[in-house]
Order: sequence, then C-alpha cells, then structure tokens
Amino acid sequence: MTEARATLEYVPHARQEAFHRDPRPWRWFCAGYGTGKTTTTVFEALMLADVTHPGCTGIVAAPTYTLLFQSWFEVWKATVPRALWELKRDPLLGPHIIVKCQNGARSKIFLRSTSNPWSNEGINAAWLIFDEATRERDRAAFDVLVSRVRKGVVGRQLSVLVSGPPMTRRHWTSTEFGAGPGDGRVGTMLAWHGQQHAVVRARTRDNPYLPPDYEAQLRSRPGVTEAWARQWCDAEFGAMEGQIYAAFSRDVHVIPAASLKGRGWRRIVIGTDWGFTHPGVMLAVAQDGYGDLYVIREEVHRERSVIDAPGQWVDIARTLDRDLGPAGFSCDPSLPGNLAAIKKGVRARVYGADNNMAEGIRVVTALLEQAVDRERERRAGRPIKHVVPALYVSDACTHTIGEFEAYARKKLRDGSVSEEPTEEGDDAMDSLRYAAVALRRAA
Ligand SMILES: Nc1ncnc2c1ncn2[C@@H]1O[C@H](COP(=O)(O)OP(=O)(O)OP(=O)(O)O)[C@@H](O)[C@H]1O
Ligand SMILES: [Mg+2]
Repeated sequence: MTEARATLEYVPHARQEAFHRDPRPWRWFCAGYGTGKTTTTVFEALMLADVTHPGCTGIVAAPTYTLLFQSWFEVWKATVPRALWELKRDPLLGPHIIVKCQNGARSKIFLRSTSNPWSNEGINAAWLIFDEATRERDRAAFDVLVSRVRKGVVGRQLSVLVSGPPMTRRHWTSTEFGAGPGDGRVGTMLAWHGQQHAVVRARTRDNPYLPPDYEAQLRSRPGVTEAWARQWCDAEFGAMEGQIYAAFSRDVHVIPAASLKGRGWRRIVIGTDWGFTHPGVMLAVAQDGYGDLYVIREEVHRERSVIDAPGQWVDIARTLDRDLGPAGFSCDPSLPGNLAAIKKGVRARVYGADNNMAEGIRVVTALLEQAVDRERERRAGRPIKHVVPALYVSDACTHTIGEFEAYARKKLRDGSVSEEPTEEGDDAMDSLRYAAVALRRAA
C-alpha cells in the first residue's frame, strides 16, 4: 500500500457495511437524508476503479451537474487522497477522473448528469454509480447510462449501484428493485434481494456520524410533516402515496433566487391564506411575458394578527405592496374582516379568491406538468415552446417547497386515499391556488 492510500480512513456504519458486502450486481442504497449515501458511493467508486476493475472505465452520475459536483465530487475530493487521482476536462469526453490504481494501471471515471448529457457514445464501462437516482423521474435517462455498462476485468462482475431515498411504489426505482420483500425477493423490510438485485435501507438516525441535532433540525423545518419525515428521514416507501403534486420535483421546479433578481414581470399577485395557530401565508406569484408563473417570495408566520401594527399582517402586506407593486391580493374569501383590514393598508386591489379547490389544484398541476414537459424537451435537445404556461419556485421559498412535497390527500379509515387534501401543511398551497387562479383569469 502506498502512503497516500494509507491516509484513507473510512469505517462504514452498519447499513453502509451491509451495502458494501452485498454480492448482487445491482444494488440500491435506499436511504434518507444524511445517511451517508454519497460517502458510500464515493468508496464504492474508488474500490471499483482501483481494486475490482483497475484499468477500466466507470461512470458516476447524478440527476444534475449541481448534485454531481456540489455533493458527490466534493465528498470524493475530501476523502480520496489527492495523489491518487486527477480531474480532467475533455471537450469530447466531458469531465472525468483518472485514478492511479495500486497495480499501476489507470482507471477512468466519467462524470455524468442525466439532465445534461455529454455523449456517452464509445463508453464501455465496467460499472455505473447513480447518486440521488430516485430524484430522476425518467427511467429512460437511467437506461441510457446502464446501456454503457458492458466491459470490465474479465471474470469480474459488472455493477450498477444507485442511491437515494425511496419514492412512491410507482417510481422506476421501485419497479426495478422492488419496494420490499415478496414477488420473488427475499429478506426483510430493512434489506431484501432477488437474484441480481439487492436493496439496503437506512434511516437518517442510522448514521452515527451526524451531529446529534441533525435529524431534529430537519424535522423541525417549516412545512415538514409526519409523512415527509417518514419518507425522507425514515426511508419509508409510499409515505407520500397520496401526494397531490406528484409532478413537483426540486430539480425541475426550483430555481435559484438570484436568477429572478431584476426580471421584469407582467403582473404580480399575492395569494393570501389566513392563519394564526397554523401559519398564515402571503405568497408573491409573478407572471412573466410568456404567462409563466414564478413563486418569488413567501411570508409565512404564526401567531400574527390581521391588524395594522408592526410585524402584523397589514404591516407585512404593506411591505410587499411597496417592494413588489402587485396588481392584487387574492385572499381566502372566508374572513371579510381580514380583507377589509388589508385593504386599508395597501394600494393594490384586495379581493376574495375563487376557492374552488379541485379547479385550483388542476390549474397548479397543469403548470407543474408543463415545466416537467419542457425539461424533457430540453434534455432531448428540442426547442422549447411557450404555448402553455409553467410554474417555477424560487429556492428562497423553502416553506413552499416543503409543502409541495408534503401536500397530500386524506387517508380514509380503510387505508384508501380520498380526493380531499389534508388540512395540515396546506397553507402555502392554498395561497398558491388563490394566486394561480387569479393570474389565469387575468391572462
Ligand atoms: N462511514 C462514515 N464515517 C464518517 N463519517 C461519515 C461516514 N458516512 C457518512 N459520514 C458523514 O455523514 C455526513 C452525511 O454523509 P453523506 O453526505 O455521504 O450523506 P448523504 O446521505 O449523501 O446526505 P444527503 O442526503 O445530504 O445527500 C457527512 O458529514 C459524512 O462525512
Ligand atoms: Mg448525498
């Protein structure tokens, strides 16, 4: 062992160990936030490149280059000694890592994102690792990468490893790997396998290396519900099965706040949902020249009254009115006194919103799906048409993003899911409906 290799320190925790030891060629580390997914795949990549398939090629992918470089490659840089590798950028091959193997050979690791494909033509890989694979909605994007896994050291197994928290039972990761034992797969709900496939689950609390308050902080973030925590911390399947905005994806719909600064808007409407114990929400939704909607600012507060006093709702409305110059405040119509109070504080129109829930959800769903369609077109290299409007959310609006992921239908006693949304964690979603419906009317 060289000195550089000797400085590598990694003691996997029990779930990581279970993943590394599993002999199956297709493996999914099905694990929640902060469980060590990226760390696990970094060590798998190093072992595959250096020990199992020295002198061969591998692929590390993530749904976006941001995820790939800001999380996977950062962990690689921090853990693999600098003397053992080099990052190369090639106009034809794209970014790749050269690994100096113990036996003197050189392995190549191509870095790929499924949303911005460098050509994979000509790559014959021995293995594929896909970090945060479950965030990729499109199975075809995964299949394109898998099709390159074809050649390694003779007699050694080719591997396909993915990581990411469980999605619904209908997501491609569930159909590929199963959402539990049964159907020819054996094991427990913690780990199961078929002949070629294995799944190892891990919860946030299974990572002993996290700061002690990490999970508590995650769970106490605004907008986080029980169902959210069951899926993203406890790595439970289908916790969000009744999810209303299943089309919502951070990768597609969330965009940097900085990219919205200084843009000109055709019209801004503030969707307003009253709340005191539950948070009240004022959501600024801006419409651009194409008719696309952007959630650009959120005001989410508990225990504020609709009165004209510092820090109370009339004051907040006045600030939004001054900063954004909205065309109107489209408000929950059920409390006329509140509307009257806001009216006194702002120049914009203040009115009761159309509160047809089913219609509002349809409008928002269509906007979300249009953004997904465009993303698909963009990936396929086709021109984007702006005929149907889409919806995007500033990454500054963290509460709204949390509600999008957690907004779910009520579960009935018999376990089935009703069409009615739960009344928990629906505050920003209500405000959004009020604004979206008002803006559609205006357009
Ligand atoms: N075996 C280990 N030994 C020491 N620290 C570890 C180990 N595994 C993970 N960690 C640490 O735990 C933290 C979370 O790890 P990592 O980023 O790999 O998790 P993740 O599941 O990819 O997280 P995220 O959900 O944010 O993507 C990091 O600080 C990492 O250094
Ligand atoms: Mg990670």
